[in-house]
Amino acid sequence: MILKQTPILLGIESSCDDTAAAVLRGKEVLSDEIISSASIHARYGGVVPELASRAHTDAIGEVVARALHTAGVKREELDAVAVTYGAGLLGALLVGLSFAKGLAYGLGIPLIGVNHIRGHLAAAYLEDRSLEPPFVTLLASGGHTAILYAPTETAFEVLGGTLDDAAGEAFDKVARVLGLPYPGGPCVEALAREGKPTVALPKMLKGAGGYNVSYSGLKTFLVNYVHTMEQRGEEWSRADVACSFQHAALDVLVEKTVRAALEKGVPVVTAGGGVIANGYLRETLEAACRAAGLRAVLPARKRCTDNAAMIASEGLIRYRLGEFSPLSLNAQASIPLRETLC
Ligand code: KG4
Ligand code: ZN
Repeated sequence: MILKQTPILLGIESSCDDTAAAVLRGKEVLSDEIISSASIHARYGGVVPELASRAHTDAIGEVVARALHTAGVKREELDAVAVTYGAGLLGALLVGLSFAKGLAYGLGIPLIGVNHIRGHLAAAYLEDRSLEPPFVTLLASGGHTAILYAPTETAFEVLGGTLDDAAGEAFDKVARVLGLPYPGGPCVEALAREGKPTVALPKMLKGAGGYNVSYSGLKTFLVNYVHTMEQRGEEWSRADVACSFQHAALDVLVEKTVRAALEKGVPVVTAGGGVIANGYLRETLEAACRAAGLRAVLPARKRCTDNAAMIASEGLIRYRLGEFSPLSLNAQASIPLRETLC
């Protein structure tokens, strides 16, 4: 098979509560569509797997049709279909994967199974089409938090990461303590904007050297703080707690990411994952990079949370290497970070 220099790729993502489809021509995003079932899950305080699968089944045909229509691309013009095969909710993944297999088989084009986290890491290539490794990447999503060194497009070395909870998980837990609805991260960010960082919180391994962080101590401290204030009947500010948490949770990531880039001697810092949508993180990371003489390439906010353009972006890397998947590819609920990054 002859590989095209600038292929037209369809990306499909259905690992959690967003059914998404996007069309890329090379690295140019022609369309990027999402149908979200977040509002269905909001009343349960988290994603309900069975409801997510049903919502994907209802949305997949429409979201793909929309992506093709917006892109002005006919199905027959597609060169490959890239789809998330894991990690995620099994039933949810199977909807997107089965649809992608059917399409690839019917059109006689390659299927490219994409690891969801690799998709997050490839989102930066859409932001700056001239981006090239080596760079240091901050990965911060609902399930992972790590500082990575990328010598090439396909290899990542873990420099450090969380010893317990992921940053997004910590945001979601703090949201619950503060009585905020699902999804927690954006709600904590909105509340934090009304507060000040007045609550003294433990610094998470900040001065400990290395690139590891830990969120469990911070979370426990916050839970205790809120309970103690309530029991004593003392006044406390939810907005100040949100703001203090946001500073403590994110400052440490910014400081360690910039230090990693300087120590590795790379000129660029990239990032990926839902937490990178956080405005405070974006501002502080961009400012810290500027001060250190580094270039920050952060995906647009909507490409930090789950989307299909990032899946197609990783698909493009695989397409150019001729790495295609068999139609027997199965969905995988969990994939260890080690396996994800090699
Ligand atoms: O990458 P993502 O969309 O899904 C995973 O692959 O995990 O990340 C979701 C996580 C959630 O924990 C959510 O609370 C967090 O990203 N998140 C945020 C923000 N938007 C999403 N955390 C902080 N600030 C935000 N604005
Ligand atoms: Zn994600």
